[in-house]
Amino acid sequence: MNLKINNKVALVTGGARGIGRSITENLLLEGAKVISTSRSENALTELREELKNFNDSLFTINTGLTGVDDIEKLIEQIRNYDLDVDILINNAGDTLNIKDPWCSLDDWRKIFRLNFEVPVQLVNHLAPKMKTKNWGRIVNITSCAGLENSGPVTFSTTKAALSAYTRSMGRILAIEAPGVVMTALFPGVVITKGGHWDEILRTNPQHAEKYLSERCPLGRFGHIDEIGPIVAVYCSELASFCHGAIIPIDAGQSKHFMYFNYMD
Ligand SMILES: NC(=O)c1ccc[n+]([C@@H]2O[C@H](COP(=O)([O-])OP(=O)(O)OC[C@H]3O[C@@H](n4cnc5c(N)ncnc54)[C@H](OP(=O)(O)O)[C@@H]3O)[C@@H](O)[C@H]2O)c1
Repeated sequence: MNLKINNKVALVTGGARGIGRSITENLLLEGAKVISTSRSENALTELREELKNFNDSLFTINTGLTGVDDIEKLIEQIRNYDLDVDILINNAGDTLNIKDPWCSLDDWRKIFRLNFEVPVQLVNHLAPKMKTKNWGRIVNITSCAGLENSGPVTFSTTKAALSAYTRSMGRILAIEAPGVVMTALFPGVVITKGGHWDEILRTNPQHAEKYLSERCPLGRFGHIDEIGPIVAVYCSELASFCHGAIIPIDAGQSKHFMYFNYMD
């Protein structure tokens, strides 16, 4: 299968580790140029070392995303590389360990900033050029927690916002510039090095076991390499009819079912 993204330029937020790392690698394998961001210079050095065969097409930017000027500076740095982003993957996201449903508004703002505002801000910066070219792909990594009861209220709410944004904005883009396709992909439980489930396995393995046996039909974690290649497909020419789609990659973990009566 040819994804037809050779030489397209992709930006992957949080692209040095976890699911983002697999997305970075799979886009490089398809011939795209990839800009990966991370707050950790070490993680980026490791990424460059592991993917040294792609030296000419991997660009790394050591930056946070949630600081006041972070996004403007990131956009500036991309301009300095003389690159135009064709494909945006809003991958960075987290619970920030904010699990109390009664948390302060400050905490709500923090988690909204990372999981919702940052993706929207990047879209606002990058979509206008995609629209001019009438070609672009925007993939928002959300979560089944955004569609049903699963995970902390705070995390679920922010991911729900990102899914709703994708559904509505994907449609707007389809009308304004049919070549620009926004989708949301949501992984089920995926084990990542140093990530949430890695930590739970170390600190509370009984909880991990219970979660897997009660909620996941396969009774196991997903692996990053079961997510990255699928994301690459939605970044590709093949996704030309997927505007606004919200797609699970969760081995049947989520139980929601959307029903539309076409006579309504
Ligand atoms: N793994 C799962 O089970 C699962 C399930 C559903 C949805 N997801 C979603 O998938 C995406 C990737 O997660 P993952 O599982 O690969 O998690 P991970 O291994 O914990 O990695 C989290 C990623 O988000 C970035 N990030 C976290 N907090 C950040 C902050 N405050 N500022 C900037 N970047 C931040 C990290 O970048 P740095 O390199 O800068 O640390 C890292 O790349 C997230 O949006 C997550 O919500 C994951």
